[in-house]
Amino acid sequence: MAGALERLVARTGRPHMFISVGKGGVGKTTFSILLSLALQERGRTLLASLDPARHLLGYLGLRRVGKPERIQEAGFTAVQYDIDTIAKKVAEDYARLLRQVMPGLTVVSLDGIVSAVKNAPGFEEEVYLSLLRGLAKSLGEEYDYIVIDTPPTGVTHRMLNLPRLYLLWLTHLYELRYKIVAMRYTIAKVLKQEFEPHDPVLDKLAELRGEYEGLAKLLRNPERAGLVLIATPEPLPVYEVKTSLRVARELGIRVEAIVVNRVLDAEMASKLGVAKTQQEALEEVKALECGGCEKLVIMHSSEPPKSLEGVKRLLGLVKDISEIT
Ligand SMILES: Nc1ncnc2c1ncn2[C@@H]1O[C@H](COP(=O)(O)OP(=O)(O)OP(=O)(O)O)[C@@H](O)[C@H]1O
Ligand SMILES: [Mg+2]
Repeated sequence: MAGALERLVARTGRPHMFISVGKGGVGKTTFSILLSLALQERGRTLLASLDPARHLLGYLGLRRVGKPERIQEAGFTAVQYDIDTIAKKVAEDYARLLRQVMPGLTVVSLDGIVSAVKNAPGFEEEVYLSLLRGLAKSLGEEYDYIVIDTPPTGVTHRMLNLPRLYLLWLTHLYELRYKIVAMRYTIAKVLKQEFEPHDPVLDKLAELRGEYEGLAKLLRNPERAGLVLIATPEPLPVYEVKTSLRVARELGIRVEAIVVNRVLDAEMASKLGVAKTQQEALEEVKALECGGCEKLVIMHSSEPPKSLEGVKRLLGLVKDISEIT
């Protein structure tokens, strides 16, 4: 296996979750497969794709969406999630929860609630987050390694920020609800009425808070999780890598590696008139401060990988960034 990729997996503890982040079309799915191929030699590996374009189905010939499938020739398990199906389920769960905690809400039908939840701002990120929560639960249980192939950068950044945001809200909501319950108790006592001390809303808030605390802690634990930032050697994708580095720093999430994919050899780059742009992009990535992360390059292949075999061929094209700059 290529040195730089080998180094990346060798320094990773177990269990561990990798999240691939990058602009559309830069090679997130391709690299996620490459990384999974490298990881499966060391432990039970799951490649989970949240990519709405569902490209993993084609690359690995998966037969269905939403169900993990063992890929014999690859040595790992893969699953392509279908975001629409999950979105429907998440919306229904919320509708049920609303009904449960606010039984008085009878003027709005279940369908009405589902539709309102589905159209709420930030719902897409919430759907991805619910998948991430599920995956986090199987880390260390069913799988030693989980590689997550994500939707394009912006949605992923917002998804990663959500646990922190939710914790803030949940803490305030919990305090508020606590005051309400305490007030009800006082009123009941004054009126000498019976009081039911068990409050389902408080219970639910505490449960949710515990769950998001766990997820935020996992994401911030460099031994357990980290990001792989992927770009092609062009200004915009490299700019997105810099944005991701900033977001990762703000959220306290480790960056494991930066990958520059589809790097042309010198001759081809000058023939196409992109030698200068490519060189500048590579130099820029090389100079980035990423907390000691690995920096890898994957050369451009004249045969774009479309299958597992195609991606396996790329293994020979992985290099350390210092080999070519
Ligand atoms: N090193 C490479 N050499 C040549 N072609 C490549 C290389 N890496 C990826 N490709 C091709 O580039 C295209 C995009 O790759 P990929 O699907 O992995 O990107 P992505 O970031 O997952 O895209 P999306 O944002 O659409 O999910 C694919 O057609 C793939 O075959
Ligand atoms: Mg993809």
